[in-house]
Amino acid sequence: MNLLSDKRILLGVSGGIAAYKSAELVRQLRAAGAVVRVVMTRAATEFVTARTFQALSGQPVWSDWSDDRTSMDHIELARWADRLLIAPATADTLARLAHGRADDLLGAICLASTAPLCVAPAMNQGMWRHAATRDNVRYLQERGVAILGPAEGAQACGDNGPGRMLEPEALVRALSDSFSSGALAGVSVVLTAGPTREAVDPVRYISNRSSGKMGYAIAAAARDAGARVELISGPTALDAPVGVHLTRVESAGDMLAAVLDRVEAGCQLFISAAAVADYRPARPAAQKLKKQAQQWSLPLEPVADILATVSALPRRPFCVGFAAETEDVEQHAQKKRLLKGVELIAANRVGRNLGFDTDDNELLLVWEGGSRLLARDSKTRLARLLIEQIATLYSSQPCLRISTENDAKHSA
Ligand SMILES: Cc1cc2nc3c(=O)[nH]c(=O)nc-3n(C[C@H](O)[C@H](O)[C@H](O)COP(=O)(O)O)c2cc1C
Repeated sequence: MNLLSDKRILLGVSGGIAAYKSAELVRQLRAAGAVVRVVMTRAATEFVTARTFQALSGQPVWSDWSDDRTSMDHIELARWADRLLIAPATADTLARLAHGRADDLLGAICLASTAPLCVAPAMNQGMWRHAATRDNVRYLQERGVAILGPAEGAQACGDNGPGRMLEPEALVRALSDSFSSGALAGVSVVLTAGPTREAVDPVRYISNRSSGKMGYAIAAAARDAGARVELISGPTALDAPVGVHLTRVESAGDMLAAVLDRVEAGCQLFISAAAVADYRPARPAAQKLKKQAQQWSLPLEPVADILATVSALPRRPFCVGFAAETEDVEQHAQKKRLLKGVELIAANRVGRNLGFDTDDNELLLVWEGGSRLLARDSKTRLARLLIEQIATLYSSQPCLRISTENDAKHSA
């Protein structure tokens, strides 16, 4: 399972002799599927050139504030990153971080970003053992900064002791582990994604614009949070995320059967992200319908509501649904949540280039007594935030899964 796939890593390189190893670190991070942007301190540029990092990362390299006075590099990069990793982190950089200095681009990014910060110290053993460095490291740890290493051993200066930067393999592993939140560790999740196709005849069907991207991103995020994920998907052009079990279906009827099968086999969390048809042709033709000169109308019948069906099961999982709305998003989402009797609705504003078949989205999460707007972002990042929110609600209401009070509510 690759937790670094598509993760945005901002690598800060400061001016230590171990900076040459960071070139290999960039290569390994990219090989693991991460997108890497490098920010160098001025001192770092005296050890390795920006061009090396640019070639290896395939991205521009930042080493100072942009000449364009209207640009806000530190804010843009701070928002972009999923993780900040400073490797090597010199004694000087640790001191600046400990004191919240923003007198260079890297320091300003670290202050502006809410992404978790990891540092890999690298310095002479005497510098590492000095009380000033010890204090700085302690401050940083108290603020939640992950200190990766250092390792002990022979040093470039001829000394022997603690202060060697961890090897790139160890840093890649540590960074990867940092994405495994464990928030849904051991939880069994059934998730639907994509559109459904309702047959008109053997060659025609009614469907919708869903690409499945949001549902597949949620499957990957749930997997990263430690869940066992069963993905039941309508027709899409997407591959199953690694480590996720995928069942492909066509119609809403097939999807319902597959969902009930998995839910009844035991699942704690059901996420309905598929854009399931509301209606299907009442009498699909066995043979291809011939074109006719006169007007033709197609009788439709409603299809079973998968989310409401699962939510009404006597031993029901914690249920999450999606709502695609074009107007009054919050109002409609709350209504849908109550109507379907589910714990959380993620409302999608569709249209205006958002929602279906796009890489970005905006979600409004609505639950009993709360709501949270997830501002426009990539579906991958939104999926992670959604899973975090689901995990928080799920862990605070475990009794919802099988309580008799809840059963009564849904059978009412
Ligand atoms: C050849 C050489 C090697 C250095 N190696 C280290 C090192 O490994 N770790 C460290 O903390 N400082 C080292 N320094 C000192 C830093 O470059 C110096 O403290 C600088 O101010 C760090 O700036 P920065 O943290 O903004 O990159 C070295 C200096 C030189 C000249």
